[in-house]
Amino acid sequence: MSAWAVLVAAGRGERLGDDRPKAFVRLGDLPLLAEPLRRLDDCEWVDAIVVVAPPEWEEPAILCAEEIGASKVSACVTGGETRVDSVRVGVAEVPEDAAVVLVHDAARPVLPADVIPRLLEALSGGWDGAVPGLPLADTVKRVRDGAVVETLDRDELWAVQTPQAFVAPVLRSALDGAGDATDCASLMEARGGRVTV
Ligand code: C5P
Repeated sequence: MSAWAVLVAAGRGERLGDDRPKAFVRLGDLPLLAEPLRRLDDCEWVDAIVVVAPPEWEEPAILCAEEIGASKVSACVTGGETRVDSVRVGVAEVPEDAAVVLVHDAARPVLPADVIPRLLEALSGGWDGAVPGLPLADTVKRVRDGAVVETLDRDELWAVQTPQAFVAPVLRSALDGAGDATDCASLMEARGGRVTV
C-alpha cells in the first residue's frame, strides 16, 4: 500500500504572534518544520512527502529538508489562504496510483512512531479515514455571549489531531469543492465517509 504524506506548514501562525510563520519558528537550531519532517521521513510506512509552505517560504522549507537529509520529499508547494486550500494543493502533487494520503500539521511536531502504523491498520480494516484522538479531560461547555448554554457529555468528546490517514480517492473527492474546515476528516464526514478515531 503506497502512502504519501502531505505536511501542511503554510499557516501564518497568528495565534503564536511571532514575526515568522509558526513552522519556521526556531526549535533548537532548526525550524519547527524539521521535527515533523524528520519523523515522517524516518517512518518506514511513508513512501514520499509533499511539503506545503507559506508563500515566499518555499526555499527555506527545501533548505530545511536538505539540512536534515530528508530523502522522501518529492515536492514543496505554495499553500493557500485556508488549511483546506493548502491540503488541496498538496494532494494535487500526490500521484493517482497512491493508495493512502496522510495529512499532517507541521504545527504538531512530536509525532509518536506508532501512530502511522495504527492509522494504516485501521484503513486496512475498511475505514475511509482514520484519525488520532484523545478523550477530553476537561468539562466542555457551549457558551454564547458569555452565558453557558449547555454542558456537553464529555464521554462522547474526543480531541482530534493529525496525522489523519485517508483512502486517497475518497480524500480527493471530499476536497473537491469543499469549503473551509479545521480538519480533513470533517470534510469526509460531511460526504458520508466512514472515519474512525
Ligand atoms: O491554523 P491551524 O491550527 O488550522 O493550522 C493547522 C495546520 O495547518 C498548521 O500546520 C498550519 O501551518 C497549516 N495551515 C496551512 N495553510 C493555511 C492554514 C494553516 O498549511 N492557510
